[in-house]
Amino acid sequence: MKKPNRLIAPSLLSSDFSNLATQLRMIKESGADWVHLDVMDGHFVPNLTFGAPIIASLRKHSTLTFDVHLMIEKPEKWLSDYRNAGGDRITFHLEACNHAQRYLVQTRELGAAAGISLNPQTPLCGLEYLLPVCDQVLIMSVNPGFGGQSFIEPILRKISALKTLILNLGVTTCIAVDGGVSKENVQSVFSAGADVVIMGSAFFKEKDKKSLVQFAKGNSNFCV
Ligand code: DX5
Ligand code: ZN
Repeated sequence: MKKPNRLIAPSLLSSDFSNLATQLRMIKESGADWVHLDVMDGHFVPNLTFGAPIIASLRKHSTLTFDVHLMIEKPEKWLSDYRNAGGDRITFHLEACNHAQRYLVQTRELGAAAGISLNPQTPLCGLEYLLPVCDQVLIMSVNPGFGGQSFIEPILRKISALKTLILNLGVTTCIAVDGGVSKENVQSVFSAGADVVIMGSAFFKEKDKKSLVQFAKGNSNFCV
């Protein structure tokens, strides 16, 4: 699978839920690359969002890559549902399962890109055994559950360390970073080694979304 380069994935979590088809169109028109879909079960994280049926409805309104972020317990039970709903990339949390390697392989077998996510306090150790079957590591730069939180600065070091690990192993896993990414810090997140950034509140509160996306990709000098 080709490794992405400086991609922007707006998270629908911070959008207007009363008209999601319009929000999807807005994402497309901004020039962003993926749609990030935050699935929360009220157990793994304290918040509750939406599940596979809503993603299946959204699928009819967008051709963009659907990047599904499962913040749920026992993600292995639901992988095929999210794939069938239209998930192109499916990421689950390392903290939510005991057999991550098996579930990454199963995700790939379903035809989706397979991702593993790490909460801020979860170390990188052990990841080297998963990376050969992992298309994406989603580094959480906030504690998952809510949009609009502040970026945890020391996570920049974690991103760099993961980048080094990936280069040393010679794997093609991409690094996505989720939580508190804004126009103020997006350049340092990419410089630290991210290939993809998730943007929720920063994207949806921005009037000029096109310029924000261009700036985030390093193509313009949008005012910070
Ligand atoms: C948080 C979610 C994020 C969230 C990001 O648990 O996983 O994807 O939508 O929102 P911001 O960019 O506002 O932190
Ligand atoms: Zn997310």
